Amino acid sequence: MSNQSRTILITSALPYANGPIHLGHMLEHIQTDIWNRFQKMRGHHSIFVCADDAHGTPIMLRAQKEGITPEQLIEKSKREHQADFAGFSIGFDNYHSTHSEENKTLSAMIYTRLREAGHINSRVIKQAYDPEKEMFLPDRFIKGECPKCGAADQYGDNCEACGASYSPTELKNAVSALSGAKPIEKESEHFFFKLGDFETMLKHWSTEGHVQKEVANKLNEWFEGGLQEWDISRDAPYFGFEIPDQPGKYFYVWLDAPVGYMASFKNLCAQRDDLNFDDFWGPESKAELYHFIGKDIAYFHTLFWPAMLKGANLRTPTAVFCHGFLTVNGAKMSKSRGTFIMARTYLEHLNPEHLRYYLAAKMGSDLSDMDLNMEDFMLRVNSDLVGKVVNIASRCAGFIRKRFNNRLTENLSEPALFAEFIAQGDTIASQYENREFGHAMRSIMALADKANQYIDEQQPWVVAKKEGEDEQLHAICSMGINLFRVIIGYLKPVLPVTTEKSELFLNSGEILWREIKNPLLGHEINKFKPLMTRVERDKVDAMLAASQQHMQAITPPAPTGPLTENPIKEEISFDDFAKIDLRIARIVAAERVEKADKLLQLTLDIGGESRTVFAGIKSAYTPEQLKGKLTVVVANLAPRKMRFGLSEGMVLAAGPGGEELWILSPDEGAQPGMQVK
Ligand code: MSP
Ligand code: ZN
Repeated sequence: MSNQSRTILITSALPYANGPIHLGHMLEHIQTDIWNRFQKMRGHHSIFVCADDAHGTPIMLRAQKEGITPEQLIEKSKREHQADFAGFSIGFDNYHSTHSEENKTLSAMIYTRLREAGHINSRVIKQAYDPEKEMFLPDRFIKGECPKCGAADQYGDNCEACGASYSPTELKNAVSALSGAKPIEKESEHFFFKLGDFETMLKHWSTEGHVQKEVANKLNEWFEGGLQEWDISRDAPYFGFEIPDQPGKYFYVWLDAPVGYMASFKNLCAQRDDLNFDDFWGPESKAELYHFIGKDIAYFHTLFWPAMLKGANLRTPTAVFCHGFLTVNGAKMSKSRGTFIMARTYLEHLNPEHLRYYLAAKMGSDLSDMDLNMEDFMLRVNSDLVGKVVNIASRCAGFIRKRFNNRLTENLSEPALFAEFIAQGDTIASQYENREFGHAMRSIMALADKANQYIDEQQPWVVAKKEGEDEQLHAICSMGINLFRVIIGYLKPVLPVTTEKSELFLNSGEILWREIKNPLLGHEINKFKPLMTRVERDKVDAMLAASQQHMQAITPPAPTGPLTENPIKEEISFDDFAKIDLRIARIVAAERVEKADKLLQLTLDIGGESRTVFAGIKSAYTPEQLKGKLTVVVANLAPRKMRFGLSEGMVLAAGPGGEELWILSPDEGAQPGMQVK
C-alpha cells in the first residue's frame, strides 16, 4: 500500500427523523466509524458526515398526531439521534439535516440541471386520494381485504397472509388508513426522472469495482427488468422542498435524501477553512467518496444516485458499501419480543465499546446478516476484551509501578516476539481496509493469546517473589506492557474510549498506526486504572426487559379491541365448519424464498404425507426457529399456485401480522396427521 495521503469522504445512510436510533442503525454507523477511524489513524485526510432524513409523509403525519410542527419533530429527533450516536463514539465530522438551506439549494440545483439536460418528464397519473384528509395516499396508507385470499386489514400492494401481490386499487373494501374514508381516484401531474437515459453509464459503472459482487448481480437483474422512470414528485400537503417553478409540487423524500450527504458536507465547509466543496463533488474531484448503506436501499444508491450525479455533472461515488441486517437472538428485531433494542436502552445498561467490538468481530465485506446473540455477546466480550486484552496490562502494570517506579526497561528482552507482533500490522491494516473486520479481530486476538502465553510462561508473579531477579521481572513486565500497546493500537478504530484510557495509562500520546512499531523504552507510564469491566448477565437481562417495556410505552395502545377492529365474520353452519379438515403437522424443513419478502417455504409432515406450504410468516420467525415445531394446517384447502410455487395447505397463525404473528403450536405429544377437533 502506498504511503501517500488520501482524501476521503465517508457517509452512513441518513436515519429517518420519525423514529429512534436502534441497534440496526448502530451496526451501520459502527461499521462506518471503524473504517473512518482506521483511515484517520493511517494518516489519511478522512471526513465522515451524516444527517437526519427529515422529509416525507410519515414525518408529516407523525407530527400532526403529536400536535407539533414537523420542524419541532425533526429538531427533537435530531438532538436525540446525535446524543445516541455520541454515546457509541460515532465520530462524525458533521451531522446535519436534509431540512436545511444547503440541501434546498443543492437539490434545486441538481433537479434544474437534470431538467435542462432533458432528463425530466412530466405526465398526469391517477392515484388513490383520501377525500376527508384531502391528500393522496401512499400505498402503505391504504388497507383492505386481500383480493386473493380475503384476509382483512392488508396494507398496500401485497398480502401478509397469502403472499399475493397486487395493486392497491385491487384491494377489496379499501379504506384510507388515516381517516377510514373510502379512497377515490384522482389525477395529478407528476415529474419523473428518466433513469433509462443512464443505462449505458450505469452498466459500465456497475462493472468498474464500485459495488460488491452481490450488488453487481442484483444490478444485472434490474437492468434485465428494464430501468423505469422514477416518480420524483409529490403533491401538497407534503413535508419537503417545493420543486422549482412548480408550486404545490414537492420533491419526493428520496430525491433530496442523498443530496443530504452533499448538504452536510457543504455545511461543514462553512465551518472549516481547509475544505473546498468542489474538490470533493466537482466532476474532476480527486477525493474518494464512499457510502455505507444497508442492503434495503441499494437501488437508490447504485442506480438513482449515480445517475443523478452524472446527469448534474457531478462526480459519482468511488464505492457504495452495502451491509446486511442485524438480527437479535436469531430473529428480526421484534417489538413484541423485546428484541427491538433502541440505542438509548442499550446505553442505559451496557458498555457501547462492547457492542462495537462484538459487531466488529462479526463484520465482513459482504451482505450477510449479523446476529446479536446475547449469550454469545457475553462470552465473546468477556473472553476476548476482558480476559485477553485488558488482562495483559493488568498482569504487568502493578509490578512496574510498585517495583520499578513506573519505568519501563531501556531495551526489549524479546525483540523477536515484538517483531512478530509488528509483522502482523500490514495484514491487519489490509483487513481493515477491505472491511474484513472479523478477520482483523481474529488476527488481533491471536496476538493477545500469544502475549498471554508469554506471560504465563514467564510467570512474573513467581519471579517477583525471588531474591535478586528484579531485572528479570522488569524485563517481563516491560515486554508485556509493550505487547499490550501494540494490541490496543491495532484495536483503536474499534475501541476509541478504551484506547484513550490506555493512551493515558501508557503516557505516550495518541497512537498512530505508523508509530505502533516503536516500543516504549526507558519510558514512564501512569498508574493503571481498570480499562473495562465484564458484561454481566443481569445487565443484559435488564436491557432486554427495558426494551420490551419501552416498546409497550411507545407503541400506542390500540384504540379498540381486536374484535371491533376486525369484527367476527358472518355466521356459518356446522356443516360449513365440518368441511374444514385441520391436522397436526410437523415442520420438517423451513426455507427462505428468494425474492419473497414475507414468505417462508415450509415442508410439513402431516402423518406419512409431505406437503409444501408457503406461509407469510417470515417477519415473525426465522427458518431455524420453526424447524421441528408442531403446528396446525388446513389439510383440505385446494392447492393454490403462487408466484413461487404450489402451496398445498395453510398453516394457522394468530396476530395482526408482520413480526407480530404467532403460529399455533400444539404441545409435544400430538402426532402429525392427528385431526384437530
Ligand atoms: N432515510 C433512509 C436513508 C436515506 S440515505 C440517503 C433510510 N432510513 S432508515 O432509518 O430506515 O435506515 C437507515 C439505515 O439503517 C439504512 O442503511 C438501513 O439499511 C439501516 N438499517 C435499518 N435497520 C437495520 C438493521 N436491522 N440492520 C442493519 N441496518 C439496518 O432508509
Ligand atoms: Zn391474501
